[in-house]
Amino acid sequence: MSSVSAAPAALYGGTSGRRVTVRDLAAAKERHEKWPMVTAYDAMTAKVFDEAGIPVLLVGDSAAMVVYGYDSTLPVTVDDLVPLTAAVVRGSSRAMVVADLPFASYQASPQQALETAARFMKEAGAHAVKLEGGHRVLSQVELLVSAGVPVMAHIGLTPQSVNVIGGYRVQGRGQSGDELMADAKALEHAGAFAVVLECVPAELAERVTASLSIPTIGIGAGSGTDAQVLVWQDLMGLTPRPAKFVKKYFDLAGEMERAVRAYADEVVSGAFPAPEHSYH
Ligand code: KIV
Repeated sequence: MSSVSAAPAALYGGTSGRRVTVRDLAAAKERHEKWPMVTAYDAMTAKVFDEAGIPVLLVGDSAAMVVYGYDSTLPVTVDDLVPLTAAVVRGSSRAMVVADLPFASYQASPQQALETAARFMKEAGAHAVKLEGGHRVLSQVELLVSAGVPVMAHIGLTPQSVNVIGGYRVQGRGQSGDELMADAKALEHAGAFAVVLECVPAELAERVTASLSIPTIGIGAGSGTDAQVLVWQDLMGLTPRPAKFVKKYFDLAGEMERAVRAYADEVVSGAFPAPEHSYH
């Protein structure tokens, strides 16, 4: 009788009764299995995405814009993001929850990065952190990983550096593609478990993906990365003017407006609440 080994659980939608780990992500890369990541900022939304089988939820510093209403990610603070991260952890049971380290909370020194990461892990229960930058943050990545903090890196368009970059523009064209490749390899060497590639030419992202043994997660980086990430308000159609790389899967803004108008009209006409919505 031949023994049949069980197929590994798929990362997207698989059920395991435990949280997704960095080892699961590494195994998916070996199997050439693509997977989705989305942002989440509250418990109820996190629960929906978790139950849909999304393996990694990112509490992005994009919360600055989509939760707090700022026009860039720069103003958001650790105190702003820790409660959102805690809510996403409470709302999910399978997904790995990654907390974004906000602007000026890790760049000053590896020690500062560790103190900030510790707040997200101790106070919010995050399972990993994400930080932006290549060579300039290698010592931060090394200290975090040696201290037991899994690190997701983020290169290409790094929105926290928008004022240095001079706008939200594609990165890695021409010779700067070599620098981006060098950054990706150095981050892997420093111990990062995955790297986000934001707004880079698809061909470059594909080459980076083939050169690394850790997963790449693309956003505006074409289809050749191991995973994709989108801000949930973008993919659900809540964002008024999304970027070119966004695909709108739903018209949430339109549906919400229709629903709230229907509610308001019924309040005004007296049709709501009906007897079945009242206590007798
Ligand atoms: O803050 C964020 O949401 C992000 C993703 C878009 C990668 O960094």
